[in-house]
Amino acid sequence: MKKKVLVSGGAGYIGSHVSVELIAAGYDVVVADNMSNCDMTCFEGVKKITGREDIPFEKIDCCDYASVDRIFSEYKIDAVIHFAAFKAVGESVAEPVKYYRNNLLSFLNILEAASVHGGCNVLFSSSATVYGDAEHLPVTENTPRLPATSPYGNTKQMSEDMLRDVVAATSSYDGKDGRWPVKGIALRYFNPIGAHPSALIGELPRGVPNNLVPFITQTAIGKRECLSIFGNDYPTEDGTCLRDYIDIVDLAKAHVAAVSRMVEGKMAKDYEIFNIGTGRPVSVYELVTAFEKVNGVKLNYKFAPRRPGDVVAIWADTSLANRELGWKAERTVEETLASAWAWERHLAGKL
Ligand code: UFG
Repeated sequence: MKKKVLVSGGAGYIGSHVSVELIAAGYDVVVADNMSNCDMTCFEGVKKITGREDIPFEKIDCCDYASVDRIFSEYKIDAVIHFAAFKAVGESVAEPVKYYRNNLLSFLNILEAASVHGGCNVLFSSSATVYGDAEHLPVTENTPRLPATSPYGNTKQMSEDMLRDVVAATSSYDGKDGRWPVKGIALRYFNPIGAHPSALIGELPRGVPNNLVPFITQTAIGKRECLSIFGNDYPTEDGTCLRDYIDIVDLAKAHVAAVSRMVEGKMAKDYEIFNIGTGRPVSVYELVTAFEKVNGVKLNYKFAPRRPGDVVAIWADTSLANRELGWKAERTVEETLASAWAWERHLAGKL
């Protein structure tokens, strides 16, 4: 019997790539999404890539407990991967209530349902943002989290803590009072970029992109006039910020490894945290020039003032994930940038 994974926010950028890899690894997938920040493009792409027309799709809002409860009742869920959340840092500063309500309530509902329905493991999609401006690099999972600088970042920290506390509180449950133990993993992503090699799924930002790579590809295709590189006076070799850019398919495969660890009972502790990155710092300038070189395009860019809230540098120590999950990032940054460009051209009908 195949194990069944609920992917909340499964029609989005990361969720769609994860769904593809889960299906490839032999899991059944149920996709739930309220479509607040995406359309059906990626879900249709997932069906095409996997050749599976029958993937269940549930248009629900995880903030509504009755809907979440119905999904858990209808499908026997072995694990849930929770992506459904808002993710724009700047917007979260302007609209904190919206972020706290959506990101925390939806996850509370998932945690409640996971315990009530029994035997369900929870994988939470966290972020390197929890480390803030870390003093020592690369960061390990034991690097202290710093106070969040945005409501978005705070929801990631709070959600990790909610998962930790629910796992601890439910560990002694045996189902007698209708509650079961919940086990959990938080994956802290660094900077996910790129697209599926088929170019059928990828990042689909609404409006002006906040993140670097979609801004690069949209500039290259002519949708945006000029890329601003935020800051070239940082204390780094070329003066631009350093990040750990992780290929989206590699990132998706880390989820498969983490889900397998949970459902096969291989966890070392009931709540675990893993950094998901490459372990390699790349500067904004290096990324821009690598994009130009690998894709043979000239990018219109300029240096602009620093963006408020940016940390100078962050990259991952990935040894724990490499060892415990038996997973390692494989794609080169060049391959990833080529896939991002292929996706943008696919969207423009030029592929
Ligand atoms: N950048 C530019 N120009 C742009 C966009 C970004 O120069 O138009 C630079 C940023 O200043 C930064 C780097 O590119 O130095 C990466 O920026 P992104 O916005 O792509 O990514 P961040 O590292 O800021 O953000 C990521 C995640 C967020 C998360 C944040 C904090 O996308 O969800 O890390 O850890 F909150």
